[in-house]
Amino acid sequence: MRISPPWQLPASLLLLSLSAVSAVPPTVNIEIPVPAKDAHLRSLDRNLVSWSIQNRDLPIFARSKLLENLFKALSTNVALGQSVRLGGGESDKTTYGADITITAEKYRSGYYGAQAQGNVTLGPNYFASFKEKYAPDTRYIWCLNLINTTNNFEAAISTAAGVLEYLGDELDLFEIGNEADFYGSKGFRDPDWDTSMMLPEWNYIADEVEKLAPNKTIKFMAGGFANPAYIVTKDFDIPGVIAAGYQSSRIPWYSMHLYPQSGCSGAVTIAPLLEHNTLSDILSHYIPQVAAAESVGAQFAIGETNTVSCVGRPGISDTFAAALWLVDYALFGATIGIRRVYFHATTTGSYSPVIPINYSIDSGNYSAGVLPLSYGAYFVSEILSFNDTLLVTQIEDGNDTDYSSYSIWDETNHLRKIVFINLQVYNSSEGATNPAMPDTEIYSSDHARPSTRVTVATPWEPGQELSLIRLQGPGSNSKSMVNVSDFTLSEKDGSVTSDLVDTIITVQENGDVVFDLLASEAVLIQHYSNVLANKHPTKSGSKAANSTVDGVIMRTRGADMSVASGLTLNNGVMVSAVLLSAILLFV
Ligand SMILES: *[C@@H]1O[C@H](CO)[C@@H](O)[C@H](O)[C@H]1NC(C)=O
Ligand SMILES: *[C@@H]1O[C@H](CO)[C@@H](O)[C@H](O)[C@H]1NC(C)=O
Ligand SMILES: *[C@@H]1O[C@H](CO)[C@@H](O)[C@H](O)[C@H]1NC(C)=O
Ligand SMILES: *[C@@H]1O[C@H](CO)[C@@H](O)[C@H](O)[C@H]1NC(C)=O
Ligand SMILES: *[C@@H]1O[C@H](CO)[C@@H](O)[C@H](O)[C@H]1NC(C)=O
Ligand SMILES: *[C@@H]1O[C@H](CO)[C@@H](O)[C@H](O)[C@H]1NC(C)=O
Ligand SMILES: *[C@@H]1O[C@H](CO)[C@@H](O)[C@H](O)[C@H]1NC(C)=O
Ligand SMILES: *[C@@H]1O[C@H](CO)[C@@H](O)[C@H](O)[C@H]1NC(C)=O
Ligand SMILES: *[C@@H]1O[C@H](CO)[C@@H](O)[C@H](O)[C@H]1NC(C)=O
Ligand SMILES: *[C@@H]1O[C@H](CO)[C@@H](O)[C@H](O)[C@H]1NC(C)=O
Repeated sequence: MRISPPWQLPASLLLLSLSAVSAVPPTVNIEIPVPAKDAHLRSLDRNLVSWSIQNRDLPIFARSKLLENLFKALSTNVALGQSVRLGGGESDKTTYGADITITAEKYRSGYYGAQAQGNVTLGPNYFASFKEKYAPDTRYIWCLNLINTTNNFEAAISTAAGVLEYLGDELDLFEIGNEADFYGSKGFRDPDWDTSMMLPEWNYIADEVEKLAPNKTIKFMAGGFANPAYIVTKDFDIPGVIAAGYQSSRIPWYSMHLYPQSGCSGAVTIAPLLEHNTLSDILSHYIPQVAAAESVGAQFAIGETNTVSCVGRPGISDTFAAALWLVDYALFGATIGIRRVYFHATTTGSYSPVIPINYSIDSGNYSAGVLPLSYGAYFVSEILSFNDTLLVTQIEDGNDTDYSSYSIWDETNHLRKIVFINLQVYNSSEGATNPAMPDTEIYSSDHARPSTRVTVATPWEPGQELSLIRLQGPGSNSKSMVNVSDFTLSEKDGSVTSDLVDTIITVQENGDVVFDLLASEAVLIQHYSNVLANKHPTKSGSKAANSTVDGVIMRTRGADMSVASGLTLNNGVMVSAVLLSAILLFV
């Protein structure tokens, strides 16, 4: 990283002086060398940001349109349905009865106890409560009960039969056991329970589940351990399970869970969400986990995660800082081979992307709505939106404690996108509350919001039109008024209420791309023609439009922008057709 004026000091000295300062400097100059070093490039999974929902809670989410419409928006950008893991603490309390008739309404929190103190018995009505009423093309991972050994794991096997019957092809994978590394210490198994003791039980269930559907190829995600890679219990991690014998073509995925802060005990703060170095230190511990999965031809995911464990914490999990954190988390994870990150949600948890229903707790009555994390996920879907495979790498010397940056490439090593995330704290009293969440102390910074000018040296052709979009909000602590370049979801049903507005900038004569961004803000830059080549969610019936604000060209996306329809993947055809559509659009 260089600080202007860049010609005065060697980069090494500047790095030293920078590390002492915590604020993002007023100017940052970075360079994207071409071609990208192949060794550093990692392909991006279209389901990089995925979801984990407590089994019991999906019927409640399905009763409002909020999550469905959020999923539709994300899936429109990534051209693929969302991946949802139905699992959590209740997986290991779940049994199934074909004659159980509990309705969706009864699955509301409270029916089975706040944390399902007893067991959760699902029946056909459970599936009926969301099947065919849900976002199209959603695919599921189902976590089976490994704790309950009664009648040779009848709970797991009968549940699997129900899942296979009702989810059918929407089921991608089964997991067996949630956070089994805790079974020994929680008294569900012997204290010396380890992965080799788990293996015969796990294999027995997997074999029986396969027998339930002999004509279907059933796949599993193994692992799902609670403890993070830096405090592994016994051999409960991916190298451990593989050494114990968990490797076969029926296990294409391995996962571990990660909550960087514990909300069940101890103090939690917003600060680590805005520290790139803290995030990258934590995630770097997963490099051996990824390597172990890849050594047997499988992929690694963080199978359950979020800002703060035990349903999140208002004032931290429900802030704009969490949205910025999600973007840096997903992208940094992708650069080290973490293929997917499953963000956990419950119906009233402050770490959820949306709150599906009005609810009452001791502190008051709260309403359904959208939390900032949704906009972080939406911003990532804009990064992933492309008509081919994309690859990612960190921009060298483009990161520090409170900022980070990534370059995104296509398979022929052409630079396609640039992401810059400014994580510098800025508190604002604007948007400091959200009717879906309890109020927390409101902070306000006593200075003007700092702005940074970023200059990126690129291989892009001078004069080309670029789209710049921003993940933005009034401040790091904001709980509302967050959007992606005006793109806004309805608090009522999650539909698009305001279309995205691309800011148009051009590549400078020397290939530089120059932009300003504020403390606590992220930007995505790509060729505007690529924006036109992909489908994006817009307000129904809206029209694309141009405008100029302070000399800057802005183009509002509209429902009439279905420019890519009917095109093939042939680049030549696509470019000319896109140009043609662009001309048609704007005349
Ligand atoms: C589990 O659920 C079944 C069916 O609702 C019930 O009969 C049984 O008592 C429950 N067991 C426990 C331990 O709560
Ligand atoms: C264990 O599973 C059986 C069904 O095989 C069920 O009857 C029992 O209630 C479950 N026990 C617990 C503690 O959930
Ligand atoms: C599996 O496929 C075979 C051959 O097509 C068929 O005879 C059999 O009924 C199928 N079994 C099940 C359980 O669907
Ligand atoms: C929540 O709503 C109920 C019913 O409308 C009302 O009785 C109660 O006073 C409200 N609680 C708070 C804390 O506002
Ligand atoms: C939820 O609460 C909001 C705000 O108080 C209210 O406008 C809305 O009607 C409520 N919705 C339901 C379904 O009760
Ligand atoms: C690429 O574009 C074609 C034609 O518009 C479309 O059918 C296809 O779904 C797109 N693929 C992806 C991965 O976006
Ligand atoms: C920037 O990222 C690189 C690669 O992850 C890392 O080695 C370096 O420590 C980071 N720099 C700072 C200042 O955080
Ligand atoms: C989006 O957020 C920005 C910055 O907080 C704000 O200026 C703008 O008015 C918002 N747009 C919409 C449509 O709410
Ligand atoms: C900003 O707000 C956070 C809470 O969101 C608080 O912990 C921090 O001390 C505040 N910082 C300043 C400079 O106001
Ligand atoms: C919008 O911008 C495009 C590209 O610069 C231009 O061709 C078109 O005429 C503009 N349309 C309107 C309605 O201003």
